[in-house]
Amino acid sequence: MHDRYQRQINYLRISVTDRCNLRCVYCMPAEGIKHIPHSEILTMEEIVTVVKAGVLVGIKKVRLTGGEPLVRGGILDLLRNLRDIPEIDDIALTTNGILLGEMASDLKAAGLKRVNISLDTLKPAKFHRITRYGNLNLVRSGIAAALQNELGPVKINTVAIRGFNDDELVDLARLTLDKPLHVRFIELMPIGTSDAWSKGRFISNQEVRELITRTLGNLEEEKNILGSGPARYSRFPGAPGTIGFISAVSNHFCAACNRLRLTATGQLRPCLFSGREIDLKQALRAGAGTGELAGIFKEAIYAKPDCHDLAVGWQKDDRIMSQIGG
Ligand code: GTP
Ligand code: 5AD
Ligand code: SF4
Repeated sequence: MHDRYQRQINYLRISVTDRCNLRCVYCMPAEGIKHIPHSEILTMEEIVTVVKAGVLVGIKKVRLTGGEPLVRGGILDLLRNLRDIPEIDDIALTTNGILLGEMASDLKAAGLKRVNISLDTLKPAKFHRITRYGNLNLVRSGIAAALQNELGPVKINTVAIRGFNDDELVDLARLTLDKPLHVRFIELMPIGTSDAWSKGRFISNQEVRELITRTLGNLEEEKNILGSGPARYSRFPGAPGTIGFISAVSNHFCAACNRLRLTATGQLRPCLFSGREIDLKQALRAGAGTGELAGIFKEAIYAKPDCHDLAVGWQKDDRIMSQIGG
């Protein structure tokens, strides 16, 4: 279905939990967040019903996010059920990679097609600092397992942060030279927890591009990387992997927006940055069928704003990034 601005909406990002086994400093406060009771969170069966309703308005691609989606019990059953919906042609997952090493082969067998893995540094001590908990070795095993189990194209999400990983961006880009990894540099978005933390730490993707090409040579545009998100890809000639740029701040991509978000508590969010949400859970729990729920999807698609430009400002919101799923 198209929205009011002629954009085709076919991608649903599903946050399956607000919980996470890390506490990245730009995403969550040190003390974590107040956990939502289980009864408020959609069950896996409810999520499947929501996706079936989404299919009726043209949803074809789904991505499971969190918090950290791999800490949610029942994720394999959810994948098996999503795989059985014929209209869904892409099932992806965004993870911090901590549990991926042990779960990759089961995820693949359950129907997951591909993963995007967060990785902001190649140095174990720094990794522990930015995530407040994390063991980098586990993420590296997760990346290896994703490649081995062909959960690809395997994409790496790197938030560029001045004074933290600007000295490592070239090394992160180098990962694309010997493995089919797609390293995407994400501009730090000054929202939620990151609003105060990010002051002075922003690096534009233009600067990242200049930094990496100065050392590694020119990039060639690459149009054929499977994906539904906002990244623009390039490749170092002959490299098996690519570099992606997600320029959420310097060059917003609202005109090409194709997505809705489902929160773990059952609301549809028309836009990452505007706090407006449209509740599905009440209707779902009152016994609404997929036809009626599809009507709520239409309302959410209709409510998508033309644009929400971070350069202009961010509206304070009740949810932080981990509760929206990025
Ligand atoms: P594919 O392209 O399908 O692989 O997925 P993706 O890039 O959409 O998914 P992922 O969860 O890996 O998102 C990568 C980054 O893009 C995250 O930092 C997201 O917050 C950001 N992102 C995704 N959608 C939007 C959006 O609508 N607006 C903005 N500003 N950022 C987004
Ligand atoms: N700015 C940019 N990216 C962010 N992410 C989380 N918070 C922010 C932020 N404030 C990224 C994570 C993850 C993806 C889902 O979103 O690093 O890779
Ligand atoms: Fe967890 Fe991802 Fe937020 Fe880090 S960025 S705390 S891994 S939800």
